[in-house]
Amino acid sequence: MRKPFVGGNWKMNLDAAAARTLADELARTVAADGLDGFCDIAIFPPFVYIPAVLGVLRDRPSGIMLGAQDLWPGPAGAFTGEVSAAMLIDCGATVVLTGHSERRHVIGESDELINRKARAGLDAGLSVILCIGETLDQRTAGRTNQVNERQLRAGLAGVKPDQLVRLTIAYEPVWAIGTGKNATPADAQDAHAHCRAVLTSLFGNAAAASIRVQYGGSVKASNAAELFAQPDIDGGLIGGASLKADEFLGIVKAAAASSQAK
Ligand code: 13P
Repeated sequence: MRKPFVGGNWKMNLDAAAARTLADELARTVAADGLDGFCDIAIFPPFVYIPAVLGVLRDRPSGIMLGAQDLWPGPAGAFTGEVSAAMLIDCGATVVLTGHSERRHVIGESDELINRKARAGLDAGLSVILCIGETLDQRTAGRTNQVNERQLRAGLAGVKPDQLVRLTIAYEPVWAIGTGKNATPADAQDAHAHCRAVLTSLFGNAAAASIRVQYGGSVKASNAAELFAQPDIDGGLIGGASLKADEFLGIVKAAAASSQAK
């Protein structure tokens, strides 16, 4: 039985005041409704707003986890503009994204760099969400499973068995991110089942059955329930809809309900 996990990836949005307000609105409802009992929840502000959001989450305990959108794999040194795992931990983050499609396709990160980042996060004690997903051209060419398998195998090379409890996969088809188009529940389930088969071949049945695979790409409160009802979809990684408290809370509630139905 996998507890669903919903993440709010705020990307490069909001300002300090809006970040605090949004975190406060989320924390109030999650605490009042005890939602974290049914669903793990994390929010990923821009680096610079992590301390402000930490202050809110400390004032209003709710079980919401604080995350970062990226990290640099090295411990310290001459890496202008970068942030290490130790710095994130120092600022109160417990989870980090790696391999997000915007880092792969806008910024040009390689599978090899993403693997170093994932291992650095796990080695430092962070939970890591490794994001994978095919582009529209790759899907049209019938290469969806092949691309996801390559990104999984490369991204997870060298990850140790005892680190898997802190690993989550986010399957985010690139063509569905920020476009309003999302994979049909059946197409998403197919991709998730294939990801789980790859995880089984890498780590064995028991580990693969316990690793959560989130769906990401234009998830909204109105379409979350049908996606989360799929057997291999364990919650979601949410972009645009995570910037509005009502929408994000609707998605969290759909995930919480899915865990009771499954
Ligand atoms: P949207 O929900 O805006 O499509 O973004 C998904 C995403 O990239 C989450 O990481």
